[in-house]
Amino acid sequence: MTGTEERPSQLLSGDHRELDQKFEEFRATPVSEMAQRRERFDRFAADLCHHIEVEERLLFPIFGEGDPSRRRVVDLMLDEHRRIEEVLQRTRLRLNAGPASTEDLEFELVNVLWAHNAREEEAVYPWFDTHLSKDRTREVTQDLRGHGPTQDEP
Ligand SMILES: [Fe+2]
Ligand SMILES: [Fe+2]
Repeated sequence: MTGTEERPSQLLSGDHRELDQKFEEFRATPVSEMAQRRERFDRFAADLCHHIEVEERLLFPIFGEGDPSRRRVVDLMLDEHRRIEEVLQRTRLRLNAGPASTEDLEFELVNVLWAHNAREEEAVYPWFDTHLSKDRTREVTQDLRGHGPTQDEP
């Protein structure tokens, strides 16, 4: 392990902050700037869906394994992921239909996403700091970092 490697909790919480920033960029774009709004929404939504996918593929199965109370937390997290995706889908449809405010949907998303992220940061991510193997930590890091158009790994 090199000194530049972050703990899983730092890495994952940091990804939440980057997603927050992308969401704020989308929100700050006027309704009249349709193309830019669409582009910013797509970037935010793609990265958020990728974050969710990494959690469900590489992290939650380990967290929930063999412990009923942690398993219940995973079930709640999965439930919230589906709600988040559902709001993203309705926002996408609204944006496809033409220039219209999405403020009500942004509000809905904030309500579910912020509480979800806070729960993960408090009750889920710290556990990985002592239970995630170095190999799996590296895999999660590469998967989150390597995502997007700036990707330069094979
Ligand atoms: Fe999540
Ligand atoms: Fe998360």
